[in-house]
Amino acid sequence: MDPAVAGRVTSVLPLKLSGVGLTIGQHTLLKDIHHTFTGSSISVVMGHNGAGKTLLLKICHGLIPPTAGRLQWHRPARAKRPCVQAMVFQRPVLLRRSVEQNIRHVLKAGRIAKSETGRAVQQALAMSRLTDMASRPARQLSGGEQQRVALARAWAARPEVLILDEPCTYLDPAATLEVEQIITAFYDAGTKIIMATHDIAQARRLAGEIILMHQGKIAECAGGHEFFGGPCSDQARAFLEGRLWTRGNSI
Ligand SMILES: Nc1ncnc2c1ncn2[C@@H]1O[C@H](COP(=O)(O)OP(=O)(O)OP(=O)(O)O)[C@@H](O)[C@H]1O
Ligand SMILES: [Mg+2]
Repeated sequence: MDPAVAGRVTSVLPLKLSGVGLTIGQHTLLKDIHHTFTGSSISVVMGHNGAGKTLLLKICHGLIPPTAGRLQWHRPARAKRPCVQAMVFQRPVLLRRSVEQNIRHVLKAGRIAKSETGRAVQQALAMSRLTDMASRPARQLSGGEQQRVALARAWAARPEVLILDEPCTYLDPAATLEVEQIITAFYDAGTKIIMATHDIAQARRLAGEIILMHQGKIAECAGGHEFFGGPCSDQARAFLEGRLWTRGNSI
């Protein structure tokens, strides 16, 4: 990563999670999550299926309120401008409209000045290499292309924080690389990235920090180099070696 951007602080960050937990019915799904997301790195959330990655991201994005603990933004997101956060899901949810109209819709919702709309749309199309597909119906595109539309929409919104939930799950290696280039462009432009992935090679390429989730808790949190160089916890070692970790199953 460009060292020039290290240490930057966006206006809504850091995001501090203190004792965050989530219980639905009889089930405690997240417990005792303590973490501070700063603006200086790409944070990658990893862990087995069902470990709690998506729930954690949804809580960070405000889609689910935690039932324990609290989230504290440096400055409340809503006090700033209409869109400081964006979230892109495994399967993007696109409008039944053209690629360009999908992007324009976000700009309308963000109340960007009309005079800037055209330029912003062209920029978002270009950065996601969708200029030639601008008039195509978004829902008819391939999975990789649709994911790029979702990222172009996010780009148009110029979020300070971009949350990505396994954005490359259904993509081939070339499409994955394209998405990673877009993620890096966001990062270089000053956007904080918080993303979940199962792809260990991708995490190695992108992560400034790794948060390993295990059964609803953070099992280990470390810098990318440290984590892949020699993880501290048994859970992390088991995860990297592709072994199931069964000790201490109860949350
Ligand atoms: N609304 C809900 N009600 C009850 N349980 C839920 C709910 N949403 C998620 N869960 C459970 O919480 C656990 C964590 O789910 P989550 O989707 O966060 O896992 P994940 O780490 O993202 O897994 P994956 O890698 O498969 O995407 C799972 O066991 C899931 O079944
Ligand atoms: Mg998930």
